[in-house]
Amino acid sequence: MIDEGIMLIPAAMHQMRSNDTEYPFRQNSNFYYLSGFEEDNALLLLQRSKKGMKQILFVQKKDRTKALWSGKRLGVDGAKKRFHIDKVYAIEQLDTVLVKLLKGVQNIYIDLYGNRAFFHRIHTLCRTLYEDRHVKVSPHGFLHVNLLIEQMRLIKSKDEIAVIEQALEITKEAHETAMKMAKKGMFEYELQALIEQIFTTRGAQSEAYSTIVASGNNANTLHYIANNCRLRQGDLILIDAGCEYAMYASDITRTFPVSGTFSPAQKALYNMILEVQLAVIDAIAPGVRRSKLQRLCETKLCEGLIALGIIKGRLKTALKHGAHKKYFPHGVGHWMGIDVHDQAPYVDAQGRELALEPGMVLTVEPGIYIDQHDTGVPERYRGIGIRIEDDIVVTRTGCRNLSQHIAKRVEEIEALCVGVAPAG
Ligand code: GLY
Ligand code: MN
Ligand code: MN
Repeated sequence: MIDEGIMLIPAAMHQMRSNDTEYPFRQNSNFYYLSGFEEDNALLLLQRSKKGMKQILFVQKKDRTKALWSGKRLGVDGAKKRFHIDKVYAIEQLDTVLVKLLKGVQNIYIDLYGNRAFFHRIHTLCRTLYEDRHVKVSPHGFLHVNLLIEQMRLIKSKDEIAVIEQALEITKEAHETAMKMAKKGMFEYELQALIEQIFTTRGAQSEAYSTIVASGNNANTLHYIANNCRLRQGDLILIDAGCEYAMYASDITRTFPVSGTFSPAQKALYNMILEVQLAVIDAIAPGVRRSKLQRLCETKLCEGLIALGIIKGRLKTALKHGAHKKYFPHGVGHWMGIDVHDQAPYVDAQGRELALEPGMVLTVEPGIYIDQHDTGVPERYRGIGIRIEDDIVVTRTGCRNLSQHIAKRVEEIEALCVGVAPAG
């Protein structure tokens, strides 16, 4: 995808939390996508010239003292053995090697809006070359490499889909265990702990995003992560949780009753949202645009809200005034992959919306959120927040719901909730 030039993709660096204590390390997604290398403080360089393509990896040297404190590194020789790559250098040699390589190169492909310190360092090196009267051609085109990688990341390979499915196996177990174990009086964080314990013990590195366990009216705060309230009989629990497995995300929301049985009002609202979700998933196929899915989702939710007496008036007028947006304020879904909100474009280089293609992975996550104090709504619906979220891959003929095996129908959920509730 690149013209002649050099592409520089640095790995993530450890980030300090305070003093000498670090945040948990997570590799830079683009670096990982292109290299598969997990270590920090490394860099991938790809050069395209008249002679062809060249790949260089810069890694940390082996270091006994560092190994004592933070574990072994692959080192230069180890990296040479592991990766099919033209050359491996120690990261300390980066500036020296770059000064040589950048002479005569016009274009640098780099993350223009990411790591500022790194960009500044490359900029300074280029400036040195620019000011050196012996150097005839020095870099003068800085291009945003992310746009190219994002296009690649948008279409998942079979192997990537398989990894997402592995993540979803673990996430399924976590959600269904939460359904079985939840009971009144428990704290939301106890369910969070249960879910994250399953993630970790089944081989996931972590959660792909902060786990949301929102009971009752808490579900009406979209990014509720305090998870510190007690579960009350009669409430619903909205759990939005997904593990990150082998660097790939899963993103699932299920909503179920603390008591194990939906009230008639909860069930009516739940089934309405489920029907909308199934209709949106059904509409996913190559050529379809996300805005069409959004419109379909909004129209059907609005229709459903009118049928339940939550919105008054006619569909056309309600849609025109966006009456439903108060209850469904977010998008129908988003790309998912190495990142939960995968860094990939929704429009092409001309700003035109992309059409779905086989291999794209997106979530479908309609929800309705009704505040407990919303007196404009029949009382039986107040304080209910419901979202149902699955992860879908576009196929040649339509789509496949990668998470369809996670309990979702009212009967399935009630059977899980009540069937295996623990005693005491
Ligand atoms: N869990 C984040 C999202 O659903 O987008
Ligand atoms: Mn999502
Ligand atoms: Mn989610």
